[in-house]
Amino acid sequence: MKKSSKKSPTGIKGLDKMLMGGVVSGRNTLVSGPCGSGKSTFAAHFLHSGIKDHGEKGMYVTLEETKEKFYNDMAEFGMDLKAAEKKGDFVLVGGPIASLHGYMEKVNANVKNLIEEIEEVVKEKGVKRVVIDSINLLSMLSKDDDENRKTLAMIANSLSALGCTSLLISETKEGSMDLSRYGMEEFVVDGVIVLYLIREGSKFISGVTVRKMRGSNHDKEIRYYQITNKGIVVYPQESVFTNKMME
Ligand SMILES: Nc1ncnc2c1ncn2[C@@H]1O[C@H](COP(=O)(O)OP(=O)(O)OP(=O)(O)O)[C@@H](O)[C@H]1O
Ligand SMILES: [Mg+2]
Repeated sequence: MKKSSKKSPTGIKGLDKMLMGGVVSGRNTLVSGPCGSGKSTFAAHFLHSGIKDHGEKGMYVTLEETKEKFYNDMAEFGMDLKAAEKKGDFVLVGGPIASLHGYMEKVNANVKNLIEEIEEVVKEKGVKRVVIDSINLLSMLSKDDDENRKTLAMIANSLSALGCTSLLISETKEGSMDLSRYGMEEFVVDGVIVLYLIREGSKFISGVTVRKMRGSNHDKEIRYYQITNKGIVVYPQESVFTNKMME
């Protein structure tokens, strides 16, 4: 009998149910969604649970937020990543794109150097879970679509080769049902999880779906989720589209 792929739980219980255990270990998963849909919170759950529940060290590569802001925002949800950093279980690389751009110009570096830096930290610290938040800003450093695709494939492959389970975060356009910003990221990765904010009258309903997970079965529906004071809560029994909305 074929042995099924090993899973790494995301730490979001309802979603792990949809994923029949979690994302596939040692592979890359794209997490996409519009602004404010909870992508960075998702990333924090995955990294925090890796450290707390599975003894897996985590690395967060951010191109958007400052360290303090990320730590403070996630502490609101009860995830103390600052303490994990102090213990040597967590490392945050990056900072706002503005400083990254400046840094890259100054040292004449390119995306390849950034990947090398990520590889170095992973090896040195024994990191097992990696999140890149977000790949959109990484794409801004690429000259064209072709280079962008190559860059993403290079990142995805190098993280898998290092044995890391990784999430690549991508911001989608407001109100779209697209899987990713550039329409090609989903082909580079092994799994795709999409967060949607669907407008119904004057409200936004949030839904999450697993679009693909190579080597694994999974729930195929769009399920309801909420961001609460404990972070993301997914309701794996509840579909987003009620009969009323389909009329
Ligand atoms: N304590 C809280 N309780 C409920 N919801 C909260 C709380 N704190 C933040 N939120 C919600 O979570 C959202 C932010 O989530 P997050 O930063 O993970 O989203 P994102 O998709 O990464 O956003 P961006 O596109 O800006 O990077 C906020 O816009 C807010 O709606
Ligand atoms: Mg974010």
